[in-house]
Amino acid sequence: MSADAMKPKGAERLRPDAAGLSRAAAILRGGGLVAFPTETVYGLGADACNDDAVAAIFDAKGRPNFNPLIVHVADMEAAKTLVLWNVEAELVARAFWPGPLTLVLPLRDDAPVSSLVTAGLPTLAVRVPAAPVARDLLAAFGGPVAAPSANRSGQISPTRAAHVIEGLGDRVDAVLDGGPCSVGVESTILGLYGHPTLLRPGGVTEETLEKLLGRRLAERHPSEAISAPGQLRSHYAPQASVRLNATDWEPGEARLGFGDVPCDVNLSPSGDLEEAAANLFDALHRLDATGAEVIAVSPIPHVGVGVAINDRLSRAAAER
Ligand code: TXA
Ligand code: MG
Repeated sequence: MSADAMKPKGAERLRPDAAGLSRAAAILRGGGLVAFPTETVYGLGADACNDDAVAAIFDAKGRPNFNPLIVHVADMEAAKTLVLWNVEAELVARAFWPGPLTLVLPLRDDAPVSSLVTAGLPTLAVRVPAAPVARDLLAAFGGPVAAPSANRSGQISPTRAAHVIEGLGDRVDAVLDGGPCSVGVESTILGLYGHPTLLRPGGVTEETLEKLLGRRLAERHPSEAISAPGQLRSHYAPQASVRLNATDWEPGEARLGFGDVPCDVNLSPSGDLEEAAANLFDALHRLDATGAEVIAVSPIPHVGVGVAINDRLSRAAAER
């Protein structure tokens, strides 16, 4: 039998124990793709310094190659070897790393990452994830890992191993199964290469960042070139169309509730926004799987992590 014929069909499903982690690290070293859980969503990881491995991420996702990737590192020291650090980066990284915050900073000339990672931009997005399995994988691999969310481009982000398998199938070599993600929406992206700019709302709120930095964040101007695919108007899209701010339900709709309302899936019966964020993508995956033509969603308060939830929902609802 040839080596190819002996290769198991489909992605390897790995447990996040010592054996699974060392297998995952070996796959990364060999230029393969490993999906792994972070506290936000599952990432599709590759060796950030290997051109072919990074190219394979774009292939597997069907992602346009002008959209740069986030590089995941073990700690602040590792980040400083890749980007030009500054006092504001120091301040926010001390407060929120490890955690759901990505910093975009000028790329260092001597950074060893593949130029495909940055899509040719002079800046690099870096983050230190908090989820134990992500940290264990970074330690086992011992280098920077490029990882976008582990979904096909434009589709719903994955917060469970099953979502990754559903969406990517054997386009990924292995999936480390660490259970559901605790935060549930992607990291906040903060640009720190000029006036601090919120490039994507996420797990760390704008209010918290402004309080810490002592100044208002700039809003990314809509006419600027897209620097984050999450900024594309249609993104996070289920098969069904999405109707927002539903205060009543139409016949046949799949009903996604928030708070004390009758519905098919409830993001948080008690009206807790963090619980709602953690449940958001799984709820969309589940309601989409019913084959309903429309998913109707209760209004979500536009405060705290509700801003990130509404950002994802409005992109899911945008015209395609
Ligand atoms: O929570 C997260 O950030 C997850 C987990 C896996 O870490 N990752 C994630 O990756 O959401 P992705 O590729 O789905 O979104 C990364 C965003 C993209 O919108 C990309 O355009 C933006 O980060 N980005 C990457 N590099 C950038 C840069 N140099 N300047 C501006 N935006 C950048
Ligand atoms: Mg994504």
